[in-house]
Amino acid sequence: MTELLTPILSANWGVDKSWTLKSYLSFDGFEGAKKALKLKPEEVLEIVKESGLRGRGGAGFPTGTKWSFVPQDNPNPKYLVVNADESEPGTCKDMPLLLASPHTLLEGIVIASYAIHCHTAFVYVRGEVAHVARRLQAAVAELYAAGWLGKDIQGSGFDLDVVVHSGAGAYICGEETALLDSLEGKRGQPRLRPPFPAVAGLYASPTVINNVESISSVPCILRNGAEWFSAMGTEKSKGFTIYSLSGHVAKPGQYEAPLGTTFAQLLECAGGMRAGHELKFFTPGGSSTPILTPADVDIPMDYEGMVGAGTMLGTKALQVFDETTSIVRTTLRWSEFYAHESCGKCTPCREGTGWLVQLLKRLEAGQGHEGDVDKLLSVCDDINGLSFCALAGGAVACVTSAVKHFREEFELGYTTPAWEAFPYELSTAWAGGAK
Ligand SMILES: Cc1cc2nc3c(=O)[nH]c(=O)nc-3n(C[C@H](O)[C@H](O)[C@H](O)COP(=O)(O)O)c2cc1C
Ligand code: SF4
Repeated sequence: MTELLTPILSANWGVDKSWTLKSYLSFDGFEGAKKALKLKPEEVLEIVKESGLRGRGGAGFPTGTKWSFVPQDNPNPKYLVVNADESEPGTCKDMPLLLASPHTLLEGIVIASYAIHCHTAFVYVRGEVAHVARRLQAAVAELYAAGWLGKDIQGSGFDLDVVVHSGAGAYICGEETALLDSLEGKRGQPRLRPPFPAVAGLYASPTVINNVESISSVPCILRNGAEWFSAMGTEKSKGFTIYSLSGHVAKPGQYEAPLGTTFAQLLECAGGMRAGHELKFFTPGGSSTPILTPADVDIPMDYEGMVGAGTMLGTKALQVFDETTSIVRTTLRWSEFYAHESCGKCTPCREGTGWLVQLLKRLEAGQGHEGDVDKLLSVCDDINGLSFCALAGGAVACVTSAVKHFREEFELGYTTPAWEAFPYELSTAWAGGAK
């Protein structure tokens, strides 16, 4: 089954000192940028458009199209901002990529900046990961020394500075407009749109915001061509991607494969469920994407396949849970996260996420009141669509999908604590198939 995997972004992750420029160059590093700098910016943009690359940060918006929205007749500077906030529960692809191969992203930044006529690019890194920010800073310094950043890059006449900025550790700062406010030194809260960032983003100037994996996918497209990329994947979801498997699988980790690979195939790559256990449910793309169950394991995991299954591809963070897991407890943990991370700007999300936690705590303790499950859904109705940004949608989706699939387990919370129905495991020594 491992022949299914397409290690492209992760091809160099296992080699000695993979994060150095020397190592990156030995893997055809900066060949894509060399090609790009010989073309006109519009030609580079066209190649990315033709490849069919779609944003890997969650929404799947076509990357080349996003770049083409930048109005080139606007006299203000154009900015590229890379979203390296990665705080969605379960999501763990961008940080490994930045640790193992920061130059993949930086090469992508050189190409993308050239295509949109940007001369100052920013990488907004989540606050908690100081080690990632340090590695990125070191890689940026290497590129200035090697003439791949700064003035007149490699004699091309193109100038580019890259600024690595650490946030303070808030999930909402991954939302692109909250990220821009935070980057400007303000409290990170979502902005009203329009104007969209492409027109008035950072410092009210045209700004492209892309996920780490989206920009990191650009160098190989320039190196190998748009057709090479679009030959992988499915009709509308082109290319390959990093699927992150975590939880009750034998070999958790990053699995790079063509879009449209099924959960069953990915699980096989990850060595299956831990020994002696069965799949109960999984998230396709982090906790804000509605959960799926064993009935869904053969659905292609691409943007369309997941929408057809009533969920979303999201960040392709597959959190996998076996039959020992209490769905009530899991949903409570996710809801606590959203209540904590709600930025407080709008009432339905600020108050509603707290109410969800209160109800779920009661159900987890086996002290739920008759009708609490309907009340849970009613609170979700009061949040959904009435809040300012997509954080609220995620907070609701994990609850409604869990109740849809496991309502009886929630109702069990009227009489029975979750820790009785699903006792905590005594051993902490399970790893892989150990237990
Ligand atoms: C609450 C919230 C958190 C988000 N966190 C991230 C994140 O950590 N990284 C990311 O790339 N996108 C995140 N997004 C999506 C961004 O707003 C944006 O769509 C994305 O960075 C665009 O990049 P892409 O087109 O390359 O996917 C988040 C969205 C929301 C609503
Ligand atoms: S939905 Fe929640 S996170 Fe988003 S703006 Fe409103 S309070 Fe903030």
